[in-house]
Amino acid sequence: KKKIFSGIQPSGLLTLGNYIGAMKQFVELQDEGDCIFCVVDLHAITVPQEPELLRQNVRSLAAMFLAAGIDPQKATLMVQSHVKEHAELGWLMQCTAYMGELERMTQFKDKSEGKAAVNASLFTYPALMAADILLYDATHVPVGDDQKQHLELTRDLAQRFNGRFGETFTIPEPIIPKVGGRIMSLDDPSKKMSKSNPNEGSFISLLDEPKKIVRKVKRAVTDSENQIRFDEQEKPAISNLLTIYALASNQTIEQLESQYDGIGYGAFKSDVADAVVSLLEPMQQRYQEWIESDELDRVLLAGAEKAAEYAEQKMIEVKQRMGLIPRE
Ligand code: TYM
Repeated sequence: KKKIFSGIQPSGLLTLGNYIGAMKQFVELQDEGDCIFCVVDLHAITVPQEPELLRQNVRSLAAMFLAAGIDPQKATLMVQSHVKEHAELGWLMQCTAYMGELERMTQFKDKSEGKAAVNASLFTYPALMAADILLYDATHVPVGDDQKQHLELTRDLAQRFNGRFGETFTIPEPIIPKVGGRIMSLDDPSKKMSKSNPNEGSFISLLDEPKKIVRKVKRAVTDSENQIRFDEQEKPAISNLLTIYALASNQTIEQLESQYDGIGYGAFKSDVADAVVSLLEPMQQRYQEWIESDELDRVLLAGAEKAAEYAEQKMIEVKQRMGLIPRE
């Protein structure tokens, strides 16, 4: 049976990119195996966070998982720092990783570039991510395209550990969506859609109100010729909107291409916006219900308890393999 693990950082607004690249997959995978979905707060603090805001963001992301359709009866939803074994195995993974391989991580290069003070944890971040996955013997990890390199490192670390200390960890496979693994920015289709972009018009937040969504889609850049077809090289902007439309409305890109043959950009964009609004509006309503209820906290407690049971056993095995003696 598949064992699925994935995490999202509680670092503010989630974008449509996070939903399409990651969360949408999570919801679909719930019926295919044992799933653990994690609010990775320890990853968020690799850059400075305001404590009050972090508290809100953790609850908000958990509510968003549930609003998107994660069913706590089927999947385990948890907060990373609630299971201390993540941090503990994270350290052991730092002792497994090499400086050289961490230096090659493009996410670190992007996030540290031009910054005066960079925390050591931003550099060792992928070791903690490897720990998240290996702690539960996950077989599959659904992520967007930008996490591929981290997954490869995770596999390398697991293999290195197993080679040195004997079979301990399961080697995980990434699941990266063929369509939608990399949603691009609305103002520049050569950059990925990201909540850290200072131009708010570049991304759609899952909590944007309908009017705002319509405005952002209308202002999205397009390509020169007035024709709706999928061609990532020649028409990256329209291809991105087609991808968003297809996934928001559960249609294929081919269906949309033939439907919009001969139709102009204006009409197309207004339908893209409608499709995104129809996707997000009901989600936003469920989000409001979850964020206001104590049930959210009960779900997170149950999730942490369930995850900890496995993680505690796994850590006993890992420490024993490495030669760390038990306390008694
Ligand atoms: P994070 O929080 O940056 O992003 C969460 C998920 O959203 C995907 N994503 C996108 N997909 C498509 N298009 C985009 N524009 C886009 N932007 C983001 C990401 O690929 C990711 O799947 N390191 C991870 C969190 C993490 C994790 C883990 C993931 C920590 N431990 C263990 C998997 C397994 C991160 O920063 O994701």
